[in-house]
Amino acid sequence: MKSRPVGPGPLLVLLVLLLLRAASVRGVQRPRRYTPDWQSLDSRPLPDWFDKAKFGVFVHWGVFSVPAWGSEWFWWHWKGEGLPQYEQFMSDNYPPGFSYADFGPQFTARFFHPEAWTDLFQASGAKYVVLTTKHHEGFTNWPSPVSWNWNSKDVGPHRDLVGELGKALRKRNIRYGLYHSLLEWFHPLYLLDKKNGFKTQYFVRAKTMPELYDLVNRYQPDLIWSDGEWECPDTYWNSTEFLSWLYNDSPVKEQVVVNDRWGQNSSCHHGGYYNCQDKFKPESLPDHKWEMCTSIDKLSWGFRRNMVMGDIASECEIISELVQTVSLGGNYLLNIGATKDGLIVPIFQERLFAVGKWLSVNGEAIYSSKPWRIQLEKNTTSVWYTSRESAVYAIFLHWPENGVLNLASPVTTSTTQITMLGIQKDLKWSTDPEEGLLIYLPQLPLFTLPIEFGWTIKMTGVH
Ligand SMILES: *[C@@H]1O[C@H](CO)[C@@H](O)[C@H](O)[C@H]1NC(C)=O
Ligand SMILES: *[C@@H]1O[C@H](CO)[C@@H](O)[C@H](O)[C@H]1NC(C)=O
Ligand SMILES: *[C@@H]1O[C@H](CO)[C@@H](O)[C@H](O)[C@H]1NC(C)=O
Repeated sequence: MKSRPVGPGPLLVLLVLLLLRAASVRGVQRPRRYTPDWQSLDSRPLPDWFDKAKFGVFVHWGVFSVPAWGSEWFWWHWKGEGLPQYEQFMSDNYPPGFSYADFGPQFTARFFHPEAWTDLFQASGAKYVVLTTKHHEGFTNWPSPVSWNWNSKDVGPHRDLVGELGKALRKRNIRYGLYHSLLEWFHPLYLLDKKNGFKTQYFVRAKTMPELYDLVNRYQPDLIWSDGEWECPDTYWNSTEFLSWLYNDSPVKEQVVVNDRWGQNSSCHHGGYYNCQDKFKPESLPDHKWEMCTSIDKLSWGFRRNMVMGDIASECEIISELVQTVSLGGNYLLNIGATKDGLIVPIFQERLFAVGKWLSVNGEAIYSSKPWRIQLEKNTTSVWYTSRESAVYAIFLHWPENGVLNLASPVTTSTTQITMLGIQKDLKWSTDPEEGLLIYLPQLPLFTLPIEFGWTIKMTGVH
């Protein structure tokens, strides 16, 4: 009888199993759970992609794009406040008895080609796009199951605008943000809750919450841009319940980013990143990630037909704001309005192309950058600093007359190298005990410079 070799089999298998188990216990950390209160929710680290993205495009589009006059607050100015110029506009241009709901069928989106929009957004250098899924008027740009006859599938376009744009953006790896208004000016249930001093939640139960969950599950957004929070406390909106689901159990719990408009007084205090007010511009470096949202049309977020050239931010204003925002640690979300038939007018296209052109030269100083130890230096010309890895970038908006850029803050070393983005060769420089670092800018004819304003000096080996 041959002795049976004592195989390593069973023992080894057991050992391997034990090791695997130990590894998996160590490797797979149990995800952290958030509780529905601000202390817990505010402690969630902001997903990385947002700070790196720096630049996004905001799009206001809805039934307000049909009257396209005044601003996207048309309905409120007309019926909420009864402003005489709105009454006049209606009586001059529409038959008697024409209601706001009658604008719905004229919101056709007939020439809306999400791929064409996406071409433009990509050319602008935007890393994320935020679309109004529902503004304060309550019309949903997607087939919401709880917005009967006041959504883009039943009325107007007969299309899922939110879904179509999302598909096109995803193909180009542009992140997708969904703007959503908590309140609806004239929703009967909202008005009922308001009458009850917001002690009842009929509207939140029937509309706000079902729609927020539907948006997240259906479109898996990277960002939720909340708005319309200001009349009620977050306990009315149940914001913290929603956010704890979003962070713990939703399909986007890893990457989703939210802003700070989740109830009275939450803006600038709670949520993900901070918007604070619209067009917020801090004076010094905030200690919390923030975003400046602003609009190319200075008087409106929605497209309006009575826009004139003087209302449009210039290329230079836009680039300056972008640079200032990023230097102060913010993201820049630049808004355009689309027309009722789904077009983006050439003046908005031109501005977005200009940002894209500027970023194609200077993007290295913007995307994924971090604030430097100094943000702003005002000398012969304003200089905004950013940094990335070991490089420090000084962005100046106006060319100094004598062709010498004077920087007080950077301290040079034996390894210092200085270049200008978009130009091949190193720049000459010297230091002066009185004046600091003197950089001799390239003497090129203006038309051979890579851009017309906002140039970036890249410095390595400085501290
Ligand atoms: C809001 O949250 C509370 C506490 O979890 C819950 O009792 C209530 O039903 C929620 N209301 C709505 C409208 O979801
Ligand atoms: C928000 O702040 C205002 C002014 O400080 C205060 O009157 C109000 O009670 C606050 N609301 C909530 C919900 O905390
Ligand atoms: C510009 O910087 C130099 C060097 O730091 C300094 O001597 C000079 O006073 C500054 N000029 C202004 C206008 O701040």
